[in-house]
Amino acid sequence: MSHRLLQLGRLLPSLEARLKATYDLHFLADERDPQAFLAARGGEFVGLVTSAGQGLSAALLDQLPALRVVSSFGVGLDKLDLAAAAQRGIAVGYTPDVLNDCVADLAFALMLDIARRTPEADRYVRAGRWTVPGAASSFPLGRRVSGAKLGIVGFGRIGRTIARRAEGFEMDVRYHTRRPVADAPQRHEPQLLGLARWADYLVLITAGGAGTKHLVDAAVLDALGPDGFLINVARGSVVDETALVRALAEGRIAGAGLDVFENEPQVPEALWSLDNVVLVPHIASATRETREAMGQRVFDNLHAFFAGRPLVSAAPLP
Ligand code: NAP
Ligand code: 8YV
Repeated sequence: MSHRLLQLGRLLPSLEARLKATYDLHFLADERDPQAFLAARGGEFVGLVTSAGQGLSAALLDQLPALRVVSSFGVGLDKLDLAAAAQRGIAVGYTPDVLNDCVADLAFALMLDIARRTPEADRYVRAGRWTVPGAASSFPLGRRVSGAKLGIVGFGRIGRTIARRAEGFEMDVRYHTRRPVADAPQRHEPQLLGLARWADYLVLITAGGAGTKHLVDAAVLDALGPDGFLINVARGSVVDETALVRALAEGRIAGAGLDVFENEPQVPEALWSLDNVVLVPHIASATRETREAMGQRVFDNLHAFFAGRPLVSAAPLP
């Protein structure tokens, strides 16, 4: 008899097909009354498939008394109650590393887009406003990325991947974390304010959650200053969004490239009309190749668990 799994939201069709072929998979999203379903049948499930976005709450765990394993699509752990899972001895898998490259690539895409004004330039051409050839164009000048000073906030798997990309752009890199990274040649800045004052570009790629909530506040934005750019590919919660909207509207920072927001999918309307911000809908890992690799890891974690082996990527204990 195959193991009975519950999946919270919808994921990649290829992953769902493999899960369905291997397990007795049920989609909670298909239930008209998920709460009533959980109350009646939550005890049937030994495995749960979730995502960094859907998360895992202690309240849900309470409704799944037979649960033994959770496999999450994504690397972020901020919405997963790992302590509640650990208390019950439930194994939790996630998908680190396989998305490092694409998230780092998007950080650079946002950096280049906001500094070189590519989305704004695209709008300018499509609006038929390019009427004079070449250098006589009235389109405003951008800013240089190559050779600039890059401050990276969070220097784990993805932060260090971003730093490797920066070598190709001959950027001067420093980083901020709570603890210096032992084998990193880049300079560690113990104070975020100091890093923001120094940087031309400040890229956020820390963990989310309570420990980093509003790490970037009005004071950090003012330290970055009117010539500095903010890129956020971490979590919306890392930035005080009200302070950021104000700083962008008042030109107190040069611009921002944002993949993540405090209340997704809501993006503050005050940002929609600003040219000094590039807005994308949480797509940093969203390439076919990376999403397939994440799906594979979700599958492999479950496969290892039911084969009695350690998970390929077990979430760290809280
Ligand atoms: P990781 O290897 O665990 O790195 C996390 C980094 O954050 C570490 O360097 C850690 O250093 C630092 N950090 C944690 N708390 C901090 C604090 N209070 N102040 C300063 N630095 C702090 O994680 P990763 O794989 O690189 O992923 C990082 C995060 O990126 C994920 O947790 C996720 O939220 C986000 N992410 C977003 C997307 C997207 O689609 N936009 C995709 C993937 C990941 P210390 O512990 O020494 O402080
Ligand atoms: C995911 C992410 O696409 O991995 C993460 O933490 O933020 C993204 O890669 C998304 O959260 C999946 O739900």
